[in-house]
Amino acid sequence: MVAGGAGFIGSNFIHYMLEKYQDYKIINFDKLTYAGNLDNLKSIENNPAYTFEQGDITDLARLNEVIKKHGVTHLINFAAETHVDRSIHGGIKDFVMTNSLGVQMLLDAVRANEIERMVNVSTDEVYGALGLDEDRKFTENTPIMPNMPYAAAKAGGDLMCNAYWVTHKTPVIVTHCSNNYGPYQFPEKLIPFFIFKAMADEPVPVYGDGLNVRDWIHAIDHSSALDLLLHQGNNGEVYNIGVDNERNNLEITKMILSILGKPESLLTYVKDRPGHDRRYAIDSTKIMNLGWQAKYTRDKFAKGLQETVEWYLENKDWVEKIRSRMNEINQHIKG
Ligand code: NAD
Ligand code: TYD
Repeated sequence: MVAGGAGFIGSNFIHYMLEKYQDYKIINFDKLTYAGNLDNLKSIENNPAYTFEQGDITDLARLNEVIKKHGVTHLINFAAETHVDRSIHGGIKDFVMTNSLGVQMLLDAVRANEIERMVNVSTDEVYGALGLDEDRKFTENTPIMPNMPYAAAKAGGDLMCNAYWVTHKTPVIVTHCSNNYGPYQFPEKLIPFFIFKAMADEPVPVYGDGLNVRDWIHAIDHSSALDLLLHQGNNGEVYNIGVDNERNNLEITKMILSILGKPESLLTYVKDRPGHDRRYAIDSTKIMNLGWQAKYTRDKFAKGLQETVEWYLENKDWVEKIRSRMNEINQHIKG
């Protein structure tokens, strides 16, 4: 069962798994919040190996019902409220409910139904921020010190996983991944947001001085890492996932504009995000020692970004449908 499979990374993961394992059955359990999009899974909606079940991970009765109905053996959790800016400007309760309490409900469901393994997909943002000149990256032993309400709520879920493992031997693995890019990403996050804006010849709003650094990984590489951990990870452990691809926001912005053939004059500096974490960087030695290798390593980032931009250019129906929903979604969330 894939919780949150209608979102960006969850849907990439489902496509990846169905292609790789013809004998697996996948249940996509998703609440369909504003970020959930079944269009991401349109090409497989009639695949007999795939079933969609609508549900909220904070609803234990519904979780138990779906798990029993389908005889779920493995669970991977992508379900979350994920947008940092939304967690700053309101609606924090939704973040805590899903990202912290929801994970506890999943752990209870794993225990009650004797599920063989759960993987809780989390973020490097739980480690807080690094300085631009600091000569270090986040390791699995870096203290958890989240700065953003989004990240604090995610950390709550991660810590509960550890507590269930220590207390009950609940078979759970936690992952901390860096920023993802690729197809099917909701256009509130930097890369698709800027692609959408630039495609419409609108200014792209860079926060602050644009020198904040993120460590970018393709969603397909994140998926292959999760696949490996689902099969070969050790219960009770934490794994970092990243590809050593630190880039600042100015660099990303200029690359997007150049791929689209748009002028750099679209780049506009705007007021900084409050508490904006300066830099994230991930040390992935632990998972690499398990044999994981990424396809889009740092030297292939230009290729990965080019393919990503092309995907948004080619999938006009997907883009237009989301674009027409954006205003309605933003109004609803503000309200
Ligand atoms: P997303 O916002 O695109 O999708 C989240 C999905 O979860 C949506 O389909 C939504 O409908 C669903 N959902 C939300 N609340 C739910 C609930 N209560 N019950 C059931 N479903 C619910 O997110 P994403 O970018 O695909 O991120 C997936 C996971 O990966 C998250 O846990 C996030 O913290 C983690 N992560 C994301 C990134 C990134 O760069 N996007 C990086 C590292 C880790
Ligand atoms: P984002 O995609 O929101 O991911 P996160 O905050 O989880 O890293 O933002 C990535 C970086 O891009 C972050 O440093 C904030 C910056 N950013 C902008 O400069 N302008 C924008 O409009 C957005 C959405 C993000």
